[in-house]
Amino acid sequence: MAEPINLDDVMIMQSNDPGGMLTAIEAFSRHCTEAMQLGRDQMDIPAAEGLNRIAYVGMGGSAIGGDILRSLLEDAVGMPVSVHRSYRLPSLLGPDTLAIFASYSGNTEETLSALDDAIYLGCRVMAITTGGTLLDKARGYRFPVVVVPGGLQPRAALAYLSLPAAAVLEKMNLLQGFAKVAYETADFLQGKRDVWGRLTPVSKNFAKQLALRLQGKIPVIYGTEGVLSVAAYRWKCQFNENSKTPAFNHTLPEMNHNEIVGWHELDDISRRVEAIFLVEDDDTSRVAKRVEVTAEIIEDKVGGVTVIHVGGRTRTDKLFSAIHLGDFVTAYLALLNGVDPTPVESITLLKERMAQEQAD
Ligand code: F6R
Repeated sequence: MAEPINLDDVMIMQSNDPGGMLTAIEAFSRHCTEAMQLGRDQMDIPAAEGLNRIAYVGMGGSAIGGDILRSLLEDAVGMPVSVHRSYRLPSLLGPDTLAIFASYSGNTEETLSALDDAIYLGCRVMAITTGGTLLDKARGYRFPVVVVPGGLQPRAALAYLSLPAAAVLEKMNLLQGFAKVAYETADFLQGKRDVWGRLTPVSKNFAKQLALRLQGKIPVIYGTEGVLSVAAYRWKCQFNENSKTPAFNHTLPEMNHNEIVGWHELDDISRRVEAIFLVEDDDTSRVAKRVEVTAEIIEDKVGGVTVIHVGGRTRTDKLFSAIHLGDFVTAYLALLNGVDPTPVESITLLKERMAQEQAD
């Protein structure tokens, strides 16, 4: 394990991040623009006629692309969008379903198993991948495939695992005007990158300040229902995979009816928790009021409370910028923890063991 570092020492940050996670995060705006273009350039698109539902299938960093689509676009496409993280698909899916299979590697066992179900059920399949068995199978069945650039960790390829699907839905005439919104979000993210990126010193950089505050703590992220609940889950996963730390998430208002009580006992654990609330800055709803009241009720039970007001002109701006902030915070926390943000050894080990089990 490397030594913890000074977050204003750009050279040391570079050498303690050999996999280039910070570089990938800083490229998020560009990834968004390129990902939209990939989808818009896609010539082979699924048929839209008679479509009644969309199912997004994947695991981990690939699956969250489905949460993004669902939270942003379900109303606009006017049909249910479901996300499936499992070996199996529900039997209610069928020929009226567009089943989008996302696997960055193309080799994730659960996703490939669910693909067999989709084929059996007669779903209209589309794949998003860099290669692997998913690409081979999709090509074999002549399913539309968006091939995305390789060389990243799946979780660092989030733009490529979400936006091409939205662009294809627009080409299928299921959506209007999303491309413009997405390109505007990419511009918005560029500004955020400058504010939260490694070149901005701790004194002016909220992402670095929050990472410093989180050292030795267990982050628990609460997002308000809708897009920020998706961001809260992304933060949790990024704390796990980038910072190698336990983290948990929940959604408001639901946590007001259970988890809020859970910080009452076990003082030694509760005191190590930093509760992070993600709330839309122009939210005047009862849910936003609940954030205020919840923070007041739990602040003397947990180790600290941080309320983040997420700005932006559109829900797409808010979701993607909240994700961008979380990605920076978790990478900085990794460096403070003295760990390399990129590798996910336990996931790799588990996949190897499961493959070995199958081979035996
Ligand atoms: C690693 C990561 C993981 C993977 C998951 C599925 O960076 O985010 O959660 O996304 O293990 O693998 P893929 O995405 O290759 O299907």
